[in-house]
Amino acid sequence: MATNGSDLGVLLQLCEKELESSMLPAAVFSNDEVFAAEMKNIFGRNWVFLGHVSEIPNTGDYVLRRIGLDPVIVVRDDSGEIIVMSNYCRHRGTELCQSDQGNAETFTCPYHGWIYKKNGDWLSAPHVSQAYKELDPKQWGLAKVPHVGVHQGMIFANVSPDAKPLLEELGGAAWFLDALFGLHPDGMRVMGPPDRWRVQTDWKSGAEQFGGDNYHVESAHISLDDIGILQSAREMYKINAQYAVGNGHIFTGHNFVKWFGADWDMWGYPKDLVDKFDLTVLDQAQRDMLASETPVVGTIFPNMSYLRFPGSPDPGVQPFATYTSIRQWQPVAPGVMELWSWQFTWNAASDEYSEQCYVAGQNAFSASGMFEQDDTVVWEGVAKLARSVFPGGDIALNYQLGFEGMSENPIDPHWKGPGVSRLSGIGEQNQRSFYQRWLREMQAS
Ligand code: FES
Ligand SMILES: [Fe+2]
Repeated sequence: MATNGSDLGVLLQLCEKELESSMLPAAVFSNDEVFAAEMKNIFGRNWVFLGHVSEIPNTGDYVLRRIGLDPVIVVRDDSGEIIVMSNYCRHRGTELCQSDQGNAETFTCPYHGWIYKKNGDWLSAPHVSQAYKELDPKQWGLAKVPHVGVHQGMIFANVSPDAKPLLEELGGAAWFLDALFGLHPDGMRVMGPPDRWRVQTDWKSGAEQFGGDNYHVESAHISLDDIGILQSAREMYKINAQYAVGNGHIFTGHNFVKWFGADWDMWGYPKDLVDKFDLTVLDQAQRDMLASETPVVGTIFPNMSYLRFPGSPDPGVQPFATYTSIRQWQPVAPGVMELWSWQFTWNAASDEYSEQCYVAGQNAFSASGMFEQDDTVVWEGVAKLARSVFPGGDIALNYQLGFEGMSENPIDPHWKGPGVSRLSGIGEQNQRSFYQRWLREMQAS
């Protein structure tokens, strides 16, 4: 019985066996040993999203972020380089910086007052000439994350000294980020710090859903169809594509033109904004994708997801505004996560349109968002099931949509992008791809 508290190896063997039939034991969604191994094997060895360059445009700008459970300071140093360093003081381990964001010349510890330069080097301490006559500053700086990378403005870091290059790890996901965020040379910017709220479920529940769960929309969100905010939800599966692009990175596209009509190409962006985009920087397969099954949600392994969708700042009233948000599923404890959500806008967009996008995005996806509440409440069950006495956390969950003839989920023979595209929303190849990567990482020694 691979219930909570059992040997991790036994549970992972059960995962391997069940994944061969596209199933997964519920125990992985709240289990002490699984969670501890995820912190080490997944968040301790992989590239993790930390934020966007527009959050720290100036020297000394910083934000506090997390890699797994570990707090890090993401700061722009004097040379303009982005440095990521541990937020634990080297003296007694106090959490050094206590503000979520700001601008700092130095960081001073609240416990005994050790002072660090903005790049993490040890600088000084109270009564330094009497207290630390022999201290070597080079030994006592903050621990620095060895690998930091930026792609399309997105900041990633990897705490493993043996990290593969970011672009190699992103693989097909970089191609998607280019098609999503590289449409204008001025790029996008965050519209404020991330909203954060706690959800009583595992981080993987959000990551898997945003990578490819089209099947839930016409059930979990049907009340939005009933009141006219989400249209034709029961037909949506016909206009979907699911992109499993390798390394567990997974995306979903919608053919808005087939769904809503000719005006809805390019996510329904207004023509004056689309005219400013430079599609010549994309390859033909990217342009074809944007003109057909335009990518609307996705997950970059392990815990970064995005949304780009037309919504209304004033539900029921036209015109729509197309919001872009990045979200992160931050692990907190077994069966508990924090949801972090940033709204973005194009630097080339007008202030008025940007504001409409922000409000539309918050209406749909935020702590009180209409879609968000539908999603988060249904995710809580599996974290309880994982620790249940009856039927027991080792009970298998079903990921078999589109698996070996289970449902009509054909591979798109015309797809020229990375990985595999399947047409129709009645499929779970993306979730399988995510969990296969998850298992590889968990079993790696
Ligand atoms: S713990 Fe930071 S100065 Fe003592
Ligand atoms: Fe949803």
